Amino acid sequence: MARRRQLYEGKAKILFEGPEPGTLVQYFKDEATALGGQRKGIITGKGVLNNRISEYLMVKLAEIGIPTHFVRRLNMREQLIREVEIIPVEIVVRNVAAGGLSARLGIAEGTRLPRSIIEYYYKNEALSNPLVSEEHITCFGWAVPQDMDDIVALTLRINDFLSGLFLGVGITLIDFKIEFGRLWENDEMRIVLADEISPDNCRLWDSKTNEKMDKDRFRRDLGRVEEAYQEVARRLGILPEAGVRDMKGPEVMQ
Ligand code: TMP
Repeated sequence: MARRRQLYEGKAKILFEGPEPGTLVQYFKDEATALGGQRKGIITGKGVLNNRISEYLMVKLAEIGIPTHFVRRLNMREQLIREVEIIPVEIVVRNVAAGGLSARLGIAEGTRLPRSIIEYYYKNEALSNPLVSEEHITCFGWAVPQDMDDIVALTLRINDFLSGLFLGVGITLIDFKIEFGRLWENDEMRIVLADEISPDNCRLWDSKTNEKMDKDRFRRDLGRVEEAYQEVARRLGILPEAGVRDMKGPEVMQ
């Protein structure tokens, strides 16, 4: 496919101009960073798997009526998406204490929370994506109260749906990060799910053993990182058959 004009390069993805106005091509890289960029590495096959996992989850979410930016997968590492105006807030949902919450509040990792918590982080790398409240978001105009109502309602549905979907394949959805964007159609604006949903931005623990099956294996240098991403795809029933060229590991070579 002809190479398109690159619009943006992030840590895990590149965005290219799409084939039609209002579309973009989202390319998934194998690069991984953690600890605010101090740890850098390659997770072989991650881009292929995240492209497929994110496609699968966004399609499933669309089936229950969650609007998303996803249009279709183009190839192993690329998907066609609708161009949206990204709301500069990362939405984190927590069902079980881990990571930042445990560190900040001294709650042991693995403690089931009495109810799910939604947190907001201002998307600003120079400020290390600080935790903010809805007050900050509306005060500084990153989103209006109506946007936040839509975001909270969609986020709670996404959490319920994904928690059940993962539980069905023996995985506990501990927490995850999502992003939303504004999609303009004629003069109408809709809030839609954007970015990606993958083991890069979810904590996924094996329901029986609590083994980590997500990017924490890279962040915490736990080993078997590639295998964890593959296992998530395998359990979802979507390990790409043609993915062997891009991935290493005896499981997928069989
Ligand atoms: P945290 O416990 O480090 O705050 O992370 C909560 C969830 O959000 C976890 O599933 C990882 C995800 N996350 C991202 O996707 N990007 C980020 O920059 C951070 C800090 C967290």
